[in-house]
Amino acid sequence: MRGRIVLQSTSSEIDCSPDYILRELWEYARVLASRSSPKNGMQLELKQCTILPWRMDDAESVARHANNRKIWLGVRDLFPHPYTIEDAREFLQRAIIEQPEMKFCVKIEGAAVGGIGVHPGQDVHRHTATVGYWLGEQFWGRGIMTEAVTAITDFCFDNFPLRRISAEVFSNNPASARVLEKAGFTFEGRLKNHVLKDRKLLDSLLYARTK
Ligand SMILES: CC(C)(COP(=O)(O)OP(=O)(O)OC[C@H]1O[C@@H](n2cnc3c(N)ncnc32)[C@H](O)[C@@H]1OP(=O)(O)O)[C@@H](O)C(=O)NCCC(=O)NCCS
Repeated sequence: MRGRIVLQSTSSEIDCSPDYILRELWEYARVLASRSSPKNGMQLELKQCTILPWRMDDAESVARHANNRKIWLGVRDLFPHPYTIEDAREFLQRAIIEQPEMKFCVKIEGAAVGGIGVHPGQDVHRHTATVGYWLGEQFWGRGIMTEAVTAITDFCFDNFPLRRISAEVFSNNPASARVLEKAGFTFEGRLKNHVLKDRKLLDSLLYARTK
């Protein structure tokens, strides 16, 4: 069949025909466009929280909950500490316009108390994404982030042509590793000396869900 390549892999076949890829790209663009529209904006109503796009008026609440060294210790250094209202505004300005970066707010009773972001891969990794998240400390230990990570992963697999969503957890962060396990991610390996955080050299733990 002309122009059609079918890649054989041990677990599945991937259709790489130009028609298929074009169709997938159009579908991707359509879903992104509908998500960006305030009328049809993506909103996941979960048992304990709601996941929805960020708004500029989340700044004060974000700064209040994100300004916590315990949160900073679990995330990349890109996440500021201390976390000021200016940091929140700068983050929100970028998050609101970035495409196809998909960063969402975790809201409880109307207040922005956490964040969850999906970062699409590029080039040969364009069928993959990584996920990152944080939650205000007063809400820890109630299963909220497990619910959020499960829902955003399901949403991404249902709406985007993704075959793999992964996350890397610092080896001194068992709570986050547990979130991923409960959300159906599989532990794939330990990346030795992968992270330099708070002047400590740490391993990171690679988790993924595949479709
Ligand atoms: C990691 C984080 C998102 C977890 O959110 P959360 O809503 O409290 O998570 P959940 O309640 O859904 O699940 C936490 C699980 O970790 C477990 N846990 C917490 N502390 C733990 C510890 N020190 N050792 C082992 N397990 C631990 C909890 O018991 C729970 O598991 P269980 O339901 O089996 O009892 C939150 O702590 C956070 O924002 N941390 C700072 C930022 C961060 O680390 N982000 C992740 C970057 S990869």
